[in-house]
Amino acid sequence: MSLGSNKVLDESKQGDATLIDAGPDNGKKLYLESYGCQMNFSDSEIVASILAESGYRTTRNPEEASLVLLNTCSIRENAEQRVRNRLNHFNNTKKKNPELLIGVLGCMAERLKAQLLEEEKLVDIVVGPDAYRDLPGLLEEVTDGRKAVNVLLSREETYADISPVRLNSNGVTAFISIMRGCDNMCSFCVVPFTRGRERSRDPESIVREARYLYQEGYREVTLLGQNVDSYRWNVSKKGDVIDPAKETVNFAQLLEKVALTAPDLRIRFSTSHPKDMTDEVLHTMARYDNICKYIHLPVQSGSSAVLKRMNRGYTREWYKNRIDAIRRIMPDCAISTDIISGFCGETDAEHAETVSLMKETEYEFAYMFKYSERPKTLAERKFTDDVPEEVKQARLEEIIAVQNESSLKRNRASVGKTFEVLAEGVSKKSDDKLFGRNSQNAVMVFDRGDIIPGTYVRVKATDCTSATLMGEVVKG
Ligand code: 5AD
Ligand code: SF4
Repeated sequence: MSLGSNKVLDESKQGDATLIDAGPDNGKKLYLESYGCQMNFSDSEIVASILAESGYRTTRNPEEASLVLLNTCSIRENAEQRVRNRLNHFNNTKKKNPELLIGVLGCMAERLKAQLLEEEKLVDIVVGPDAYRDLPGLLEEVTDGRKAVNVLLSREETYADISPVRLNSNGVTAFISIMRGCDNMCSFCVVPFTRGRERSRDPESIVREARYLYQEGYREVTLLGQNVDSYRWNVSKKGDVIDPAKETVNFAQLLEKVALTAPDLRIRFSTSHPKDMTDEVLHTMARYDNICKYIHLPVQSGSSAVLKRMNRGYTREWYKNRIDAIRRIMPDCAISTDIISGFCGETDAEHAETVSLMKETEYEFAYMFKYSERPKTLAERKFTDDVPEEVKQARLEEIIAVQNESSLKRNRASVGKTFEVLAEGVSKKSDDKLFGRNSQNAVMVFDRGDIIPGTYVRVKATDCTSATLMGEVVKG
């Protein structure tokens, strides 16, 4: 999760691919673009790995590709619109290069299935998030203008054995997917329909991946899941042990196992769910210096009535209790959130409750969105999307303004303090500067000197904006 200025999350953020020069070579090049959440970016690394096995090399240049894959997001309507525009663009390229194959992966593949192939004739291949192993076979089927599709969802697939190809890697930070799917059924959310049932990945394979990344020089891993707090291994949903001969692992225990990989491997995770986040997780975080003091805890709304309509499974009071627990157990922990403005039936008073919760919590950072109705969701079936567009927009602008103020306040409070920063790379604005993040996930920019990305430096914050801390390296 990057700390940019507080804004609507930019679904158009693209992840093109780096060249892979190992493995077989079938002479064909893959151009892969990812949209949406971190899980999609992580999945693209699995896709690149599966296709590398059958000889595809990835390229950053779509013009030399014989296969273009878009790993897509359905969370809001505008995310889907962007992908359609991109598909139209690649279809124009195809007119010049009829051999080019175009595929859609991820959530839109799952949601729109054959529609993309048949009605819109935009793609040759459609593959849902649980069917990536089938990609090489499907690509063989797509000859002579035939189309291929597999959007079957699985109860077991975790891609545990696949070693992801790190795309666009800075060699310092990496994602590790620890679970897939979501069983929560928040009423606004399409994810349970596109990514299927929740399942956790074998903890041993997670620890192995962390260890491998560390050996390769990585110094930070982010454990990914839609709801990491419901990670469970060898335990049924009801809480019964499945195989008494084997150990059981919950999220707090998994965190600890990964933290023990190496004291200088930083651990982050996302996303936590307020209804499931336990004090045990917080105590584990507090015990290990290398577990970053940062929690992304989406609230969605500050009104208990709206939360009920959203089917979030907690109230404002419960949420505030979780915030209090974080502050009590880890006073230096940063907290960020997601907020939706203009959900079905949201009144001015309910919106005001979101604003007041934000002011009380003073988040370091927030992702803020206008409600976008999604087909088949509980909200689409049960409620009316009745908040006018202008009202959604005005409320969104208000919450963004409140958040910018609290981000600035939080950053100002850091000025004068010294933090341990993991240097990640050269600053976008100046070749003479590096950027990295402190444990709290704040971006810090400082003089490059002879510092190499991937090393830890102590940086004293000297100035700030609402998005960034400027600092000086402290020697010794
Ligand atoms: N409309 C707007 N925002 C949504 N989110 C999920 N579904 C929708 C929707 N239909 C937001 C939530 C979630 C984040 C990933 O995206 O805030 O936490
Ligand atoms: Fe969607 Fe809710 Fe699951 Fe998050 S927890 S993916 S918002 S259903």
